[in-house]
Amino acid sequence: MKKGQKKPMTVIPLSDYLKEKREFFEQRIRDYFPSTFKEADIVLKAMEYSFFAGGKRFRPVLALTVCDALGLNGEDLIPACLAIEMIHTYSLIHDDLPSMDNDDFRRGKPSNHKVFGEGMAILAGDGLLTEAFYIASHFPEKEELTNGKLKFITALSEAAGIRGMVGGQVMDIDESKPFNEQFLEKLHMAKTGAMIKISALAPLIIFNDYRFYNEIESYASNLGLLFQITDDILDVEASSEKLGKTAGKDIEQNKLTFITLFGLKGAKKRAKEVLEKTIACAEKIPNNEYLVKLAEYIYSREK
Ligand code: IPE
Ligand code: IPE
Ligand code: MG
Ligand code: MG
Ligand code: MG
Repeated sequence: MKKGQKKPMTVIPLSDYLKEKREFFEQRIRDYFPSTFKEADIVLKAMEYSFFAGGKRFRPVLALTVCDALGLNGEDLIPACLAIEMIHTYSLIHDDLPSMDNDDFRRGKPSNHKVFGEGMAILAGDGLLTEAFYIASHFPEKEELTNGKLKFITALSEAAGIRGMVGGQVMDIDESKPFNEQFLEKLHMAKTGAMIKISALAPLIIFNDYRFYNEIESYASNLGLLFQITDDILDVEASSEKLGKTAGKDIEQNKLTFITLFGLKGAKKRAKEVLEKTIACAEKIPNNEYLVKLAEYIYSREK
């Protein structure tokens, strides 16, 4: 290699890369995991039951992949990743409740309310949501990141709440909603896209490094939409066993999805288009190798 030439990044297969990122996340989060007082211990058990049930950890992996692309320190991002995954887990616990999607299985196990009862499942969700903000505001304890953490908390509130995921869930259960594409895309971008977008933007916000903000925002918006289109497709194509949640629920419950609006063929065509758009956005970001691969993985995922 010539002097001054940049050493090429070692390229490992995506499956190994994902495993490495997941393990990094799993190892680090134990230090931050919540505690409570003895009499409330059961709620921690309910929170941990769903949190450690074996989710893909896609949102933390995405955040850490953006860190790699921009050369930022993933270690300092762990609290933000944990907060995001806690909020995501809470959203799944509440999504499965009888009053919402009424799903008895999640992450390959009986849903939280099937094990702990509805009241405790609601509280476990509340506990995870609140704990997420406790962690995001306390850690990392570095003076120079205070501003970034504050900005992240604002952005996380927007993504998780009524302007994002909660708003999307409201659209999802609205019985008088119109069945059209415009409403569907807005619904998917809110209920799923918002939490995926904040995952990709978290490193930029926390480290106050806004290079490529627009590019990463566009990439993550498309990736979020792609993620929910493939979720809709998997609901009809994959088995409950493979998914770890009950397949076929969307049609049964007359949900507005890419399948119910466009059929399987139409949904797949749309997924391919959104994948291509996502990759085109990724190509504008430096060191985009794994960002591109992550999009391809979301497009072709089996669960
Ligand atoms: C499921 O999310 C709910 C949606 C937003 C579509 P994931 O597919 O990321 O679920 P886990 O975290 O792997 O269980
Ligand atoms: C839920 O979407 C998205 C959330 C915010 C939890 P879905 O209802 O399609 O998620 P699954 O299919 O139950 O995982
Ligand atoms: Mg739902
Ligand atoms: Mg559901
Ligand atoms: Mg679904």
